[in-house]
Amino acid sequence: MGQMIPDHASRAPVDPKPNDTSKKPKYDPAFTDKVIAATGPNANRRLAEVMPSLVRHLHAFAREVNLTVEEWTAAVEFINECGQMSDDRRNETQLLCDIVGLESLVGEITSKLVSTSESETPSAVLGPFYRQDAPLLPHGSSIIKDLGPSVPWYEQAVADSAFVTGRVLSNSGEPIQGAILDVWHAAPNGLYEQQDESQPDMNFRGRFETDASGRYAFYALRPVPYPIPDDGPAGRLLALLDRHPYRPGHIHFIVTAPGFRPLTTQLYDDRDQYLGKDSVFAVKDELVVRFAPREGDPNARWSLQYDFVLGRG
Ligand code: BEZ
Ligand code: FE
Repeated sequence: MGQMIPDHASRAPVDPKPNDTSKKPKYDPAFTDKVIAATGPNANRRLAEVMPSLVRHLHAFAREVNLTVEEWTAAVEFINECGQMSDDRRNETQLLCDIVGLESLVGEITSKLVSTSESETPSAVLGPFYRQDAPLLPHGSSIIKDLGPSVPWYEQAVADSAFVTGRVLSNSGEPIQGAILDVWHAAPNGLYEQQDESQPDMNFRGRFETDASGRYAFYALRPVPYPIPDDGPAGRLLALLDRHPYRPGHIHFIVTAPGFRPLTTQLYDDRDQYLGKDSVFAVKDELVVRFAPREGDPNARWSLQYDFVLGRG
């Protein structure tokens, strides 16, 4: 895509005098309405609502930037390539949405539509590395599988383990018993287990159930920053935009409980250098946490305490 896009920073604007009504418009002003009017009376209701706006914005964008056939062809090929590269282990189209902030934005829109109180924990992007059916583990156990000395980063990583605990609460402050926290994070080499032959199946993944006081507890690693996959079209776009691929270290959570809306979110380490420059724009202040030193626990150097608040529905 890089070579196919001419640098047209010096191109003249579409209409040098946009308020000059004596001038004929450069492009057919009726064209967009004609496309929108093609929708039939039996169209899908939501599509009939959404598509006119999409068409208007798309057409306005093309006119505003003087999009050429050559550039549009490059964009079509780029999107095709994203689709062709995607499978159940890698979702390049979702990655593309992530780097332009779209997954984060629609997450925020959806939360605002359904949320009933300010106190609910904010959501954050799911990302492409979630796997269903992580093992249901006992309260207070670890998601770190024993990898031994064969994996170069393992010993050092385990020395940076954290005990993560807290409660799951309703937005009126009552503890929720039987909530399930589905938890996952990347390895210190920046890879999730399904991307990495050296890690066992379901490493750094687990599900935990809250007890009668709404409490959960598990051991994990203190997460480190990692680059999102940048060896495909999304990575090429980042490079063309002179952007880095890093995400701040985080732990992913999906918290579910009967009678409550599921929460997909992430917690971020406040010491992280990428906190203010996440490549997928998912960080929210309420999700930034402090890992405190932990005394007297041979299994963890750090301790993290965080309560999740779910909305009813
Ligand atoms: C992640 O946090 O796993 C992630 C989110 C968006 C894009 C790539 C990775
Ligand atoms: Fe992640």
